[in-house]
Amino acid sequence: MDRDLLLRELSDFLRIPSVSTLPAHNQDCRRAADWLGAALRALGCPKVEFLGSETHPVVWGVGPEVPGAPTLLIYGHYDVQPPDPLGEWTTPPFEPTVRDGRLYARGAADDKGQVFCLLKAIEAAGKPAVNFRFLIEGEEEHGSQVLFDLLKREPQRVAADAVLVADMSYVAPGWPAVYSTLRGLCYGEITVRTSKTDLHSGEYGGAAPNAHEELCRLLTRLKSENGHINIPGFYSAVKRPSKAELAAWKKLPFKEKDFLEKRVQGKGLVGLKKYSVLERLWALPTFEIHGILGGFTGEGAKTVIPAEATAKVSMRLVPSQKLKTVERQLTAAVKRFAPKYVTATVRFLHGADPAQITLTDASFQKLDAAFKSVLGRGTVPARAGGSIPVVPALASAGAPVILTGIGLPDDRLHAPNEKLELKQLWDGIEVFRKFYELLGKNGVR
Ligand code: BES
Ligand code: MN
Ligand code: MN
Repeated sequence: MDRDLLLRELSDFLRIPSVSTLPAHNQDCRRAADWLGAALRALGCPKVEFLGSETHPVVWGVGPEVPGAPTLLIYGHYDVQPPDPLGEWTTPPFEPTVRDGRLYARGAADDKGQVFCLLKAIEAAGKPAVNFRFLIEGEEEHGSQVLFDLLKREPQRVAADAVLVADMSYVAPGWPAVYSTLRGLCYGEITVRTSKTDLHSGEYGGAAPNAHEELCRLLTRLKSENGHINIPGFYSAVKRPSKAELAAWKKLPFKEKDFLEKRVQGKGLVGLKKYSVLERLWALPTFEIHGILGGFTGEGAKTVIPAEATAKVSMRLVPSQKLKTVERQLTAAVKRFAPKYVTATVRFLHGADPAQITLTDASFQKLDAAFKSVLGRGTVPARAGGSIPVVPALASAGAPVILTGIGLPDDRLHAPNEKLELKQLWDGIEVFRKFYELLGKNGVR
């Protein structure tokens, strides 16, 4: 394949600022959907549809019919996270640039570059004996409401022999992976109110409650310094990984020291120290504060007692935890931990159940063989700390969901200077070309 041409095509896709969470980019999301629609038609799809939304449609495609061949559903997303802080990008987020064999742009790895890889691998394979279906959404980074609604109305869209999701990374350079779990997510806002309006801190300070202070105290009651989350019942559904799984993780090319020094680039790690870092990242739930709003944060000084303060928080959930249960548990904990003289409320913004996939279907062996033939090493089983909200729905018709990807752990998803290494892309096209051939040769099962 002509690599210069591929790079130009992918760059066109990456130049579209399809940030799903910002309404100012609604038309850009639509343009990204249209770009994909055209790409699917160019692949020979006789049927391409835009479903569920004018601005963030699910792009649905049906490939050329191959009688008797297995059906592979390809899932991905064309939306991206906001690019800020803009000043930290070496080159602008929506001006894709190659430096040292790496393509820098928002969406390069998450997930436009990976969707592009799966599509180009079909082109590279010629006419593989696979019935392709495509379900590519524009709201993954924003809770996937449009796709959830579509699948509720039309659950047969996910009927397939296997579902392929390339939205993750290798565990280390040269070490491709398949993932058996994804964490779920429960995202909300906790608001504390202490008086009708803001108050003069001289007239009232010392006797009137302060909303920021009460919110901070409430937050530290919810999670202790040692990393333990104190929401009653929160851990009761959490299961430890098996001894065999924990032993397998010890053999992965992952060093806690490198994680701290090269990836976090901080001075120390936190969390429940009696569990390994991988167990904390992959098999334990979290409680995170994303931002605190309210009070006076402008230039200069203002002596005020804020009447209201809000924290944006989220919890990552692990298999067996349920989003609905955790929502109830957080609401109850906030009521219980807030003192009588404050009004504390919780509002949920979006969420996802965790996903668990059994890696026994024959299609996993085919992916393993495809990676082996290109890299000399097959896939290692791993778990993922991140979330893809619709994966449990994709799995609901019983097809195996293959969670894999061509990114690397240091691709800086959601952060400044996101990148995709070109070697990963070129290898990836070869790997999936081979995978489609293997699927077609002797079916999925
Ligand atoms: N591709 C990521 C999920 C991911 C990242 C899985 C790293 C495994 C490893 C996805 O695009 C993502 O960022 N999801 C969001 C979902 C949320 C906004 C509902 C997440 O995990 O924060
Ligand atoms: Mn993604
Ligand atoms: Mn993402």
